[in-house]
Amino acid sequence: MKHLLKLLDLTKEEIIELLDLADKLKYESKNGIEHPILKGKTLGMIFQKSSTRTRVSFETGMYQLGGYPLFLSSNDLQIGRGEPVQDTARVLSRYIDGIMIRTFEQKEVEDLAEYGSIPIINGLTDFCHPCQVLADLQTIREYKTGFDGLKMCYIGDGNNMANSLIVGGLKVGMKVSVACPEEYEPAKEVLDFAKQYDCFELTTDPKQAAKDADILFTDVWASMGQEEESVKRRTVFQGVYQINDEIMAVAKPDAMVQHCLPAHRGEEITEAVLEAHANEIFDEAENRLHAQKAVLVKLMAD
Ligand code: CP
Ligand code: NVA
Repeated sequence: MKHLLKLLDLTKEEIIELLDLADKLKYESKNGIEHPILKGKTLGMIFQKSSTRTRVSFETGMYQLGGYPLFLSSNDLQIGRGEPVQDTARVLSRYIDGIMIRTFEQKEVEDLAEYGSIPIINGLTDFCHPCQVLADLQTIREYKTGFDGLKMCYIGDGNNMANSLIVGGLKVGMKVSVACPEEYEPAKEVLDFAKQYDCFELTTDPKQAAKDADILFTDVWASMGQEEESVKRRTVFQGVYQINDEIMAVAKPDAMVQHCLPAHRGEEITEAVLEAHANEIFDEAENRLHAQKAVLVKLMAD
């Protein structure tokens, strides 16, 4: 494994190895065991979109591993003025040891990997959010002790989170059920991958998707970059594509709820469900730190 560009590139074994490493690093952090594995290494963090969790957890994670996190806003980089990503990749490869990038097009991340000579980590694109889903899988395993036989349900927009959850969930052995409106389906590449699995279901009916689910996920109706569509999207999603008490009633009684955050209460999730499942959701947010440290160690340690 040279990069983390998308979960489609990883084997089940590589995903499980990262989760095991994330658990180990979490245990060590909680027990005051320092692990300066990346001493002397620098991670460049390019952000073309806003972030709370990704920025702070990568920055803190790099610090805890003994390395240096360098925040690079695209407003300040020449990339923001049109310098090609191919050149940025080759220049940064001469200075630093790894790049985490949050941007719009998946191609930009793939180009960085192609032209650079250092590990590239996808911190979210319009296509996928692999770091988030590694943290999600870590959290599911903590609460449910494994993946076998579990049903994971996603209700909402077929966006970057849906794409990564489908791939990650199926690869580790869960049943995956997705409810989204027509014309807001996950990416074709992801649906083509999911077709290989009998345990994948795509429907427009949230209750059907949530039936007997062990884990329920949702995400915002309009992602970053889709702000201009938010009114139109609201009319399509409102009143149907929401995790609420009616949805919880058809899931398993001990179903857990996950949300990558930020959440829009009253839209994709009710305040009551979010607060009832706050422990699981904020454990998920915490696990961004541990899962990302695992990715950093795997890709950047000597
Ligand atoms: N979940 C997530 O990626 O959060 P941020 O947008 O705050 O990084
Ligand atoms: N789908 C959301 C996820 C944010 C973490 C977005 O892309 O804005």
